[in-house]
Amino acid sequence: MCGIVGYIGDGNARKIILDGLKRLEYRGYDSSGVAIVKNGRIVVEKTVGRIANLEEKIISLPFDGNVGIGHTRWATHGAPSDANAHPHMNGDGSIAVVHNGIIENYVELQEWLREKHGVVFKSETDSEVIAHLIGVFYKDKGSLLEAVYQAVSMMRGAYAVCAVAAAEPDKIVAVRKDTPLIAGIGEDCNFLASDIPALLKYVKKIYLIENNETVMVEKNRITIFDEGRKRVRRDVFNVTWNADAAEKDGYDHFMHKEIHEQPKGIFETLRRRLDENGLICLDGISLTKEDLFGINKIYLVACGTAYHAGLVGKYAIEKFAGIPVETDIASEFRYRDPFVDDRTLFICVSQSGETLDTMAALREAKRKGARILSVVNVVGSSIARESDDVFYTWAGPEIAVASTKAYTTQLVCMYLLALYMGYTKGVLPEGEYRRIIEELRETPEKLEKFLENEGSILKLAKKLYKKEQAFFIGRGPDCGVSYEGSLKLKEISYINSFAIAAGELKHGTIALIEEGSLVVALATQDRLFKKMLSNIQEVKARGAYVIGIAKESNHEIEQHADYVIYIPETADEVTPLLAVAPLQLLAYHIAKLRGCDIDKPKNLAKSVTVE
Ligand code: F6R
Repeated sequence: MCGIVGYIGDGNARKIILDGLKRLEYRGYDSSGVAIVKNGRIVVEKTVGRIANLEEKIISLPFDGNVGIGHTRWATHGAPSDANAHPHMNGDGSIAVVHNGIIENYVELQEWLREKHGVVFKSETDSEVIAHLIGVFYKDKGSLLEAVYQAVSMMRGAYAVCAVAAAEPDKIVAVRKDTPLIAGIGEDCNFLASDIPALLKYVKKIYLIENNETVMVEKNRITIFDEGRKRVRRDVFNVTWNADAAEKDGYDHFMHKEIHEQPKGIFETLRRRLDENGLICLDGISLTKEDLFGINKIYLVACGTAYHAGLVGKYAIEKFAGIPVETDIASEFRYRDPFVDDRTLFICVSQSGETLDTMAALREAKRKGARILSVVNVVGSSIARESDDVFYTWAGPEIAVASTKAYTTQLVCMYLLALYMGYTKGVLPEGEYRRIIEELRETPEKLEKFLENEGSILKLAKKLYKKEQAFFIGRGPDCGVSYEGSLKLKEISYINSFAIAAGELKHGTIALIEEGSLVVALATQDRLFKKMLSNIQEVKARGAYVIGIAKESNHEIEQHADYVIYIPETADEVTPLLAVAPLQLLAYHIAKLRGCDIDKPKNLAKSVTVE
């Protein structure tokens, strides 16, 4: 989704901003642009396509200066085009802005600007109104900070906006509402950005800007103001990732690297939650035994892959903790007046911690009295900050748009929470509790070994990559994994793929199965194995080519499936941690063979900060 970088200091703003924007490329974008303030003027260049196009365009231009703002745009209002790319300027070019988010009342504002101020718009975006509004108030107030305040008072929606004025080259003013914004603290220079990775090469100390705050960034000073325009003291947030964690490390794609980082992510997520006696400790999470007894319902709410982790989490929590769980899609939950009260535990799952729908669902649950626990990867993200408690996944920065290691670490959190709740409430016997923890502890090593045999999956991909349709089926926790496998395949290879509970096939979808249809059947659950064999036979009888995923001991599947991928032996409850890996690898290799842009699939963004 859109990215923002701002710089002020003694360095070359163009170079630093372009570098920061490149580090945000993974978020997905379709155009980019930069504005540099110099000698009482603002020079803007922007272009559709990759940042490399922008770089090429400005390399020979007089485009150096020490203050500037840059943007990567992911089109919402208006197609990807040079005109719609940011930065946007006001009529006389004295103000430039970049904007992430959506201005909901932009049509009204356009009318007001046209009628009262004769503004002529050059783009189809909602964002351009911000530049004109600031421009109008700047004429009146002569202060960028004041003009931003005035403009914001008229805007409705979600925004992170950075603005520069030709006549005030010593500052960048930014404001945030429901869209992430950070200020980076440098030496003799300071930064603004939408996301931490943009700044990792330059700074490790940042200020997290809160909702409705305005920040004025000067070369040697960062001043934060609250909604009432009072100065705010903010603790410095120290970033612990290093820039290398965001590099490809010899892999062709971030996605491939991240698939291989899963054993480490699982290990780290477990290590931080298991004490020296091998028991789960939820240090820093304030859920007491009494609280647990008070909870009569859990909502697991998220989007996309994180929602799929919630589907598996439901099985684990209901089984181990005996608490009813409803897993819901955030964009549905937020608008359906869900049954939530103060005995509800609302668990939201999010890699980025910035997904707008998930955040809105969280606020809705909070408003109705629920206790909020979030499972989040990005430390200090908006969702983490608005939650009562945070259970961090320790996946490290996930750059590829297609989520992999965030998913498996989210699953680990689901298991740990479920086991902790069950054991603490006394509904899960100690022997069972310890047995599953032991299984979890063995997972990183098993997964590591499994990933070493990637060659066989590449061979399979070579056989399948020209298929145009795929079905994923499973039962129990495998059903949740089917959804995730199907999403991985469709989002990076563009194969029309969908997942369905295996038992549902015969209620309609089986009509689509014909000679050569590709069916991936997850059959890792001992209890449901025979049922899955029947489902495999049903699709085989209609000519499907079936790939079975099963545990090493379940050889019977070979009699029915055309090809079997065995995962290491483990407890039924935790097979999703292993079963998803072949699906991720298959999707990756198929997409690679089809020549797809794996880390940046078309139309997708890493962090979805719009509705
Ligand atoms: C798919 C994928 C998305 C995200 C979804 C939620 O591979 O990554 O479906 O899972 O957009 O994002 P987060 O987890 O950041 O809330």
